[in-house]
Amino acid sequence: MQVGTGKIVVLGTGGTIAGKAAKAGDNIGYTAGQVSVGQLLEAIPGLAQAARGRIEAEQIAQIDSKDMDFAVWRQLAHRCTQLLADPDVRGVVVTHGTDTLEETAWFLDSVLDTAERPVVLACAMRPATAIAPDGPQNLLDAVAVAATPGARGVLAVVAGTIHTARDVQKVHPYRVDAFSSGDAGPLGWVEEGAVRLAHGWPAPSVPRLDALHHIANTYLWPRVEVLMNHVGADGRIVDLLVLDGVDGLVVAATGNGTLHHALAKALERAHESGVEVRVATRCPLGRVLPKPGDALPHSEGLSPVKARISLLLDLLARPRRP
Ligand code: SIN
Repeated sequence: MQVGTGKIVVLGTGGTIAGKAAKAGDNIGYTAGQVSVGQLLEAIPGLAQAARGRIEAEQIAQIDSKDMDFAVWRQLAHRCTQLLADPDVRGVVVTHGTDTLEETAWFLDSVLDTAERPVVLACAMRPATAIAPDGPQNLLDAVAVAATPGARGVLAVVAGTIHTARDVQKVHPYRVDAFSSGDAGPLGWVEEGAVRLAHGWPAPSVPRLDALHHIANTYLWPRVEVLMNHVGADGRIVDLLVLDGVDGLVVAATGNGTLHHALAKALERAHESGVEVRVATRCPLGRVLPKPGDALPHSEGLSPVKARISLLLDLLARPRRP
């Protein structure tokens, strides 16, 4: 069967899109992950048309994405891999909470081969019980993107805007249009079910297929922590984490990778002792521009949380320290 035919499979993981509040007007006092992904799909008119054919639902997890963990990631990566290899599947949609969506998107982008079929994350800022829930439209739009011929990559669709896994970031804790692609700008938009791309589908990423093997075979993921540079950052936390056996550290540095001198010294000591360190910036836009002579490796343009995931995958592929 050619790519571009077949079914769309929607994998549910929970989130506000599946959230319920006691009162319809309550947009913040709700519990995420209450409504099954099957029920979410049943409530959306026009879904089969957006899917250009069959659509199926599977519940992978039912959680608030603040509680996302490696066990769910392993299951999600495994199921996506199976579906992407199935010639009867045109694309995969994942319903997810907004809070850690960008992390799951980057994780999936790093480990899946989506060169021919997309994985599209859908979410919502208002629970399913809200007076005006945004989930049904977001899910319908995500299905439309997944079913669009030529679609590829790991993408997120929120408030009519399509973002790539590399650039997407939650930038607002309340607004319905809560995501941004920063300097890169959106990949495109969904308008009345039709996809309009700003430039074209993303270049296929090179998946770390070795990572899938390691993920399948480990229950003990490396420990990588994210720290921040700030006024008075004295680095003692680094020494404590090293004593506690941390495997990797990502620092959300100020500006273009600057660090308080005491934190810099502590991170250099950690690095020399074998702990991997990456320097990202805490600025919401832009990236650290490395300079000759930099003592610590930078995050290659990734935000601190995405740099953590890349470092986790690097470390998973290496023999563990005793
Ligand atoms: C979550 O991330 O699961 C809860 C918050 C949200 O989806 O907006």
